[in-house]
Amino acid sequence: SPSTASPADSASSASTVITNIAALVTNDPSLSDRSPLGVIQDAAVVMEGDRVVWTGGRSKAPATDNRVDAGGRAVLPGFVDSHAHLVFAGDRTEEFDARMSGRAYSAGGIRTTVAATRAASDADLERTLTRHLAEALRQGTTTMETKSGYGLTVEDEARALRLAARHTDEVTFLGAHVVPAEHADDPAAYVDLVTGPMLDACAPYARWVDVFVEEGAFDGDQARAVLTAGREKGLVPRVHANQLSYGPGVRLAVELDAASADHCTRLTDADVDALASGRTVATLLPGAEFSTRAEWPDARRLLDAGVTVALSTDCNPGSSFTSSVPFCVALAVRDMGMTPDEAVWSATAGGAAALRRTDVGRLAPGAYADLVLLDAPSHVHLAYRPGVPLVDAVWRRGVRVV
Ligand code: NIG
Ligand code: FE
Repeated sequence: SPSTASPADSASSASTVITNIAALVTNDPSLSDRSPLGVIQDAAVVMEGDRVVWTGGRSKAPATDNRVDAGGRAVLPGFVDSHAHLVFAGDRTEEFDARMSGRAYSAGGIRTTVAATRAASDADLERTLTRHLAEALRQGTTTMETKSGYGLTVEDEARALRLAARHTDEVTFLGAHVVPAEHADDPAAYVDLVTGPMLDACAPYARWVDVFVEEGAFDGDQARAVLTAGREKGLVPRVHANQLSYGPGVRLAVELDAASADHCTRLTDADVDALASGRTVATLLPGAEFSTRAEWPDARRLLDAGVTVALSTDCNPGSSFTSSVPFCVALAVRDMGMTPDEAVWSATAGGAAALRRTDVGRLAPGAYADLVLLDAPSHVHLAYRPGVPLVDAVWRRGVRVV
């Protein structure tokens, strides 16, 4: 663990330098001549209050109130996990177990979690939510998006978002996750509910509107209705797109200038071209392919086409019950054609891009002081040493939290 020269009052405007950093990943575009990640060797970073105020070679670091010795190890921006479903109750161990014995994944399993979530108390839901946020923080995630989508009534969706908004700024309304059992005979009536009273009740708590475009969930026309209704209420679209089958999700996301198209597992050339032509980020979620034993999304194809790629966990009890961004980085490097540099960029700056933010996911003057100190000399070890808990310390908003 790092040593602190004085007991820092880190919440104040006191300045702290982390020095003796072997490799500092900045993602600072103004340094990108050094590497895609803007890596500074033999570096230091200075934070003041909740912000980064200086980065550079350690011999040039300005004087500060406090000093932390990184011990010749690597520092990178806290991970930005732009896709998770943390408001839920129960788990789906049996479904996972059956899948690992050969059963296929389908969207229908979502209804199991909907039933458990509706039956849970606010306190139970909040306990589960905060437990997973804390678990993610210990693994280096300092910004985490979370969605509704396991309530699917006006009251249960609004409750999910109200609870989520207590713990993260990145809250997404996913009333259009699946059609709940009680509306199975009349999906159009459910879409009317989502775009009407449910949206009215949920919009005050949310920044984003999302829809699961998939066979067994919502088609292109229904998705368009949900996303445009959300947009009229000030929410910005993001889309669960092309996960299990080819479909209109990705192209709809780009057409509506969604912040992100998520999953992107089954893509035609037209889908890739659409992503390359717009500013919609492709968010890849390898935990889902791992946990559903599905084909990996082809990150290489997207990167070679010039698409901005984010990497996130999709943490949820059905298709991807992991809160570990390092695990996703390792999968992306091993199985999706990403280099370690690309995967680390996608898990930090890429996630920030998917949330349309520049104040997180990079370590440059003005950004939030959200930092991870690895027990490793290089960020490459995140892929090189899979499954090893390499996150040694985490600062969030300038405060040491792990
Ligand atoms: O992102 N794809 C849709 N929603 C989730 C899965 C939810 C579930 O199976 O409970 C996902 O993978
Ligand atoms: Fe998801």
